[in-house]
Amino acid sequence: MLEAKGLRMQYGARTVLDVPQLSVDDGACTVLVGANGSGKTTLLRILAGQLKPTAGTFSAPQPVLYLPQRTYAFRGTVLQNILIGMKNKKEDALSLLDRMELTPLLQKQARSLSGGELQRLAFCRLVLRDCKLLLLDEPTSACDTHAAALLLQELQRYRKAQNCTVLLSTHSRAVAAQIADRCLLLENGCITADGTPQEIWQNVPLMEDA
Ligand SMILES: Nc1ncnc2c1ncn2[C@@H]1O[C@H](COP(=O)(O)OP(=O)(O)OP(=O)(O)O)[C@@H](O)[C@H]1O
Ligand SMILES: [Mg+2]
Repeated sequence: MLEAKGLRMQYGARTVLDVPQLSVDDGACTVLVGANGSGKTTLLRILAGQLKPTAGTFSAPQPVLYLPQRTYAFRGTVLQNILIGMKNKKEDALSLLDRMELTPLLQKQARSLSGGELQRLAFCRLVLRDCKLLLLDEPTSACDTHAAALLLQELQRYRKAQNCTVLLSTHSRAVAAQIADRCLLLENGCITADGTPQEIWQNVPLMEDA
């Protein structure tokens, strides 16, 4: 179980995250939705251990994998990027890249990829590893509809194989509707709605899809 109590992040006098209590069941896929600046990245970075909260505690299933909002590539080709620390998984890597339609790019310099290509590569690099908690910060934000569908399909496959808990942020209702067991709406750092995608959108009819 992922559990947090009294989580708060403050910059100077400004509180950007205030989550008194949060529990997420093992194996569930929970989607964080909220406008720019609502605190999605802040919450994910805290849970990933990358940001120390001003107050509060949490416990999370281990190990944790985290895909940052700004994805990056190492110097070298796409193939070299995916095999970093994973040379013994070359076959798995190649079939994963194939399912993600990245095979034609294998020998390309990873830093020359488009935004959507790079996002898919970073996701692939992550899901070759095992975890019990997967934190994904807007993993499809640069993907076109087709690439997003590929990535989400692969995410479902990974969830099944690992039986892991997933916490993912997105601006897209379509993404949330497709994969969320549960949605949390963040507004100004606070969770203001908690329910299925249908329940959230019923309560928040004006929230826009990006
Ligand atoms: N280092 C910092 N110093 C001051 N304010 C910060 C800092 N980091 C984040 N913030 C503020 O915290 C708020 C929440 O930021 P956060 O990145 O968590 O939002 P988000 O929901 O992920 O937004 P987006 O949809 O744009 O990715 C924002 O108003 C941001 O300006
Ligand atoms: Mg963010």
